[in-house]
Amino acid sequence: MNTKIVPLTQDEDKETLFAKLTQAGEVIKNGGLVAFPTETVYGLGGDALNPKSSQKIYEAKGRPSDNPLIVHIADMEHLEKIVQNVPENAKKLADAFWPGPLTMILKKSDAVPRQTTGGLETVAIRMPAHPLALIFIKEAGGYVAAPSANLSGKPSPTTAKYVIQDMDGRIDMILDADAGADGAIGIESTIVDMTGEVPMILRPGYITQEMITNIIGKTDTDVTILDNDSKQPPKAPGMKYRHYAPKGELVIVEGTPENVVNYINEQTALHAGKGERTGVIGTTETIRQYKADSVKDAGARDDMLSAAKRLYTFLREFDDENIAYIYSEAFPAGGVGHAVMNRLLKAAGHRCIKL
Ligand code: TXA
Ligand code: MG
Repeated sequence: MNTKIVPLTQDEDKETLFAKLTQAGEVIKNGGLVAFPTETVYGLGGDALNPKSSQKIYEAKGRPSDNPLIVHIADMEHLEKIVQNVPENAKKLADAFWPGPLTMILKKSDAVPRQTTGGLETVAIRMPAHPLALIFIKEAGGYVAAPSANLSGKPSPTTAKYVIQDMDGRIDMILDADAGADGAIGIESTIVDMTGEVPMILRPGYITQEMITNIIGKTDTDVTILDNDSKQPPKAPGMKYRHYAPKGELVIVEGTPENVVNYINEQTALHAGKGERTGVIGTTETIRQYKADSVKDAGARDDMLSAAKRLYTFLREFDDENIAYIYSEAFPAGGVGHAVMNRLLKAAGHRCIKL
């Protein structure tokens, strides 16, 4: 398949931009697939109400078809058609956080095919905050099913470069909006299941449990999120798959900054002695002390949003640089740091050394 790559910039004239997004919307309406930017990561979009489109998404990603897709909407009025009812708490969360990086699970209506929901009776819904995504979704008919636009098992793409690397030749169109990717978050949305008695966080993200609790009161967290020893399967089917994995072996190191730096430098020296290439993810405070083939600065320790924005790009770059062993500092788990650690632990297959 010949994939059309369409550059979008914030400063091109409105009509040209709109015409491009209308054309992308047509591709979706005709049953095709388009990768598009959001404020979290790039999405791989198809018509959420067309079972054949969802089937195509699974094929393009190489994703198991029991792993449900998120339906992206651009308008509150569109919500009613795809759910059985909108609970009061869901309305409150939508008011507070939409458009934005929050996905809510609600009971699906008959309009949503089972192919889109991986066979479930519930549907995940999000209204993204990226202005170009909102126009695109409207032009596509209002309902765009989209997982992250990576091949299954790879880190989610935060730049068009990595969408192209994974999806060129597999889908109809890629909207390249890197020039207009302001306000990016870099990790996927928070998922909250609204179908039980107490809303439950299934995947942490930029919108924290505390922010949600402040709006609707009591919430629970899926116990499997940070605890690898849990015997239960995660409630979001996609969380059970090995995700976000770089090719190299990633280990997280926790301890005082001095101990962490010393330990990592000992390890990278041992690998270097064997001719093995090493990478390190550190923070601005420690970064100059590391010795490795590739050293990445996640930003200041008290700025976890900057770590969120950079994490997936680092993991991809380590692959490009043929790094065999990667060591990362552990990050403070407050605020969005909780989500950063969740992704990092998954990428590391939960290998974490506590000094
Ligand atoms: O930020 C995001 O959410 C990005 C952008 C593109 O919007 N999308 C994204 O999609 O991360 P994906 O497919 O990579 O992750 C969706 C997650 C999976 O873990 C899936 O199992 C879960 O949402 N999910 C979807 N529908 C669900 C449902 N009905 N019940 C429980 N979990 C669900
Ligand atoms: Mg994904």
